[in-house]
Amino acid sequence: MMPGPPLLSIDLNAGYTNRPSALRRVSLEIHHGEILGLVGESGSGKSTIALAVMNLLGYKGGRASGKVLFRGRNLLNEPESRMRELRGRDIALVLQSPSGSLNPALPLRAQLSEAWRAHARGSKAEQRAAVERAMRDVSLPNDEEFLRRYPAQISLGQAQRVLIAMATMHSPALLVADEPTSALDVITQAEILKLIVQLNQGMGTAVLYISHDLVSVASICHRVAILYGGEIVECGTPDQVLTCPSHPYTRQLVSCVPWIKAAVPPRREEARISGPMVGAMANSLFAPASLIPGHIQ
Ligand SMILES: Nc1ncnc2c1ncn2[C@@H]1O[C@H](COP(=O)(O)OP(=O)(O)OP(=O)(O)O)[C@@H](O)[C@H]1O
Ligand SMILES: [Mg+2]
Repeated sequence: MMPGPPLLSIDLNAGYTNRPSALRRVSLEIHHGEILGLVGESGSGKSTIALAVMNLLGYKGGRASGKVLFRGRNLLNEPESRMRELRGRDIALVLQSPSGSLNPALPLRAQLSEAWRAHARGSKAEQRAAVERAMRDVSLPNDEEFLRRYPAQISLGQAQRVLIAMATMHSPALLVADEPTSALDVITQAEILKLIVQLNQGMGTAVLYISHDLVSVASICHRVAILYGGEIVECGTPDQVLTCPSHPYTRQLVSCVPWIKAAVPPRREEARISGPMVGAMANSLFAPASLIPGHIQ
């Protein structure tokens, strides 16, 4: 197991007025620098977990009880003012729909500058430098022409990169990515996943990676949790969970992707400890996994 206390440890019940038990005793841990995959069918409660971790469930009319311990503090008990300090600086969220998450009326530079000013003080020159660095970190152009564009003037994949740049410009300890690639084509999906792996390695950002896509989860995650009907039914390394599934739902899931074994890095858990190896492994596995016939939807 990983040494030291976990970065995030949750033990949750959560629900909505008309669905009070959307999550039942969901218990998960994410360690520093770890990518934890969360897989489950539609409606199983994945986004409810993401929102509960951000302490944002109230905005959807939901309620959570129990613990969301982040660096030892229960976020469910933190006042909104404290959560605003944490969100975007220590914990960041990236959602499925890049076009819906950017402000259509503001140029990219203004949106990135706003994200920087939310948690940093400094001169205009420092702000410009931070914005340009953030764009470079996600492999986007950082020249004046590009930064003056509006969201409608860039591609969906570029928009998702901008959102990731905004989410990670303060080097958060934890990134919650709720189906960050499902609105994108297969090649762009692979690029965004590679970017998530790079940020994980470069900044040491831990990631809660929520996805329907078993192949991408197998390729980039150190551990995988399977959510079924609001309960975690299985959690372990991709090797354990995806090549020897124990729960009937996981078995069914895996049987739909017979080539999954090819996407699971061997002994990923051990490799994780020596960082650079993971990079090489993720890079080499990435393209083949995403181009496996049948994966293209
Ligand atoms: N605002 C809401 N009010 C009432 N019920 C909700 C609300 N949001 C979600 N639910 C219900 O809670 C359950 C879990 O929903 P959630 O959005 O967490 O699922 P999910 O696993 O993210 O699904 P998907 O893969 O489709 O995104 C579902 O039964 C859903 O209908
Ligand atoms: Mg969801």
